[in-house]
Amino acid sequence: MDEPGNTAVLDIDRSAVPVIAIDGPSGSGKGTIARAVAEKLGFNFLDSGALYRVVALASINTRTAADDSSGLALLASTAPIDFAHSDNGDVAVLLGGQDVTQQLRAEEVGNCASKIATHPELRDALLDRQRRWRQLPGLVADGRDMGTVVFPDALIKIFLTASAEIRAKRRVKQLKEKGISANISGLLSDIQARDKRDYNRAIAPLKAAADSIQIDSTSLSVAQVVTKVLDLASVRL
Ligand code: C5P
Repeated sequence: MDEPGNTAVLDIDRSAVPVIAIDGPSGSGKGTIARAVAEKLGFNFLDSGALYRVVALASINTRTAADDSSGLALLASTAPIDFAHSDNGDVAVLLGGQDVTQQLRAEEVGNCASKIATHPELRDALLDRQRRWRQLPGLVADGRDMGTVVFPDALIKIFLTASAEIRAKRRVKQLKEKGISANISGLLSDIQARDKRDYNRAIAPLKAAADSIQIDSTSLSVAQVVTKVLDLASVRL
């Protein structure tokens, strides 16, 4: 499957398609929450971080330097990225026809994504790719600037946070479940460095949209956060 909207329904009025934007720092649980909410509502789901990660992987593969803004923007608009439903219902990310979903989760790729994400040219090149996911019956989009830049007219904007320590712990658990060993103090400093870059970059910094609802998930379960978002959806959608 190509990115939605490339071929079929190009002429729909996208502004009429409801969007739930879920932004927050890495490890806040936004991906898990967004996926669960999309599934409950039968909405499309955009993991915008995966797009930044796949461009990061393409830049590593092609040895495009992290400061080569025009080379990175070219990669962002031309890289052969596809999304395919895998047997277990998950969405697999393909680069040049190869399933790179697992590679994208590597810390090296995440750190590279956060570095290259500081380039305005690259962010612009990814705007259109992200907006194409806005398709009926609705979209749940997770990232850093979903509610502020990509979908400023989203019906519901959530800004999800959690302490850096709990985010590092969750990440260690996630990696362990995948059989990848991880060191908590190394992960904590990676998360803090990534937060610093994401919050402080000049363009599209990670920040809560003025009209967002902030949820601190430090002491909440996934199910509790999902319920909060679905409650909001039942009122606003
Ligand atoms: O969410 P995830 O950790 O997969 O994102 C990887 C990196 O991509 C983030 O640290 C961030 O720098 C960047 N990103 C972004 N804007 C988005 C999504 C991700 O800048 N909407």
